[in-house]
Amino acid sequence: MSNPLLLVLDNNLALGKALAQQQNLELGSLCWRHFPDGESYVRVDSPCAGRDVIVLCSLDQPDQKTVPLCFLADLLRDLGAKKIGLITPYLAYLRQDTQFQPGEAVSSRTFARIISTFFDWLITVDPHLHRYQSLDEIYPLTGVSLSASPVIAQWVRKNVTTPLIVGPDMESRQWVEQLALELNCPYLILEKERLGDHEVRLNLPDLNALHQHTPIIVDDICSSGTTLLEVAEQLQQRTLPPPLVIVVHGLFAGGAWEKLQHSSIRQLVSCNSVPHHSNAIDLSELIGEQLKKLL
Ligand code: R5P
Repeated sequence: MSNPLLLVLDNNLALGKALAQQQNLELGSLCWRHFPDGESYVRVDSPCAGRDVIVLCSLDQPDQKTVPLCFLADLLRDLGAKKIGLITPYLAYLRQDTQFQPGEAVSSRTFARIISTFFDWLITVDPHLHRYQSLDEIYPLTGVSLSASPVIAQWVRKNVTTPLIVGPDMESRQWVEQLALELNCPYLILEKERLGDHEVRLNLPDLNALHQHTPIIVDDICSSGTTLLEVAEQLQQRTLPPPLVIVVHGLFAGGAWEKLQHSSIRQLVSCNSVPHHSNAIDLSELIGEQLKKLL
């Protein structure tokens, strides 16, 4: 019987190769591109009939990637694939999980229905679950959410002696608490109010007892960078040492990365869910172990 086939739809070939090697998957041959007018072209050159096929595609730039992703999954079904799974280390469209204003689309639900139409299962890492307790609430397929905390904790242990984990908002409690527990170190959860795409207001508690620690701001996503910049600014005003930042999914929209480079942040590292030169924390073993259980 043939081993499972892995197709990498985005540019995360490094993660794809690591997974293929660790889990004995065949790295398949796929051609996809956009025509000059923006339509998508997809072709699979590897045999799929009767095989488990896994697609690796983080969903940063989701509007560009979702159409080819659905075309690919539908094609795989036509080519006779047995089960079609999606490894999407960054799963998009989870932050719009309610109607904040009347008449707004709750895009998380619609997106979940689209993806679930085409795939049998998915694996993701630290999805932005806030008002939903778990992916099952909106994803009818088999969905597995992994936590990057153990691999982040490994990185912190190697690089920082007296960490103070700082979570920018209430949503961050889930990963900040777990990380602080693994590291046996103090943590803070700030209160954040989002005033617009590029504006947030933060409320910080008393930090007087924590000046001997190295603050590490930990967030799931860096999009515009507004949240991280504001936290860094507030910590600087309280005369804490320059912070480190760890993000699971570094999207760095617009000029976010450049702005962060010019802030008081000492170092910013990310997990390799979305390829970027800040990637310092590898998710391949974490994802690979789960994949083994699903196949
Ligand atoms: C929101 O609650 C998330 O956890 C992140 O804090 C948010 O997505 C970051 O966005 P930005 O970089 O635009 O502030």
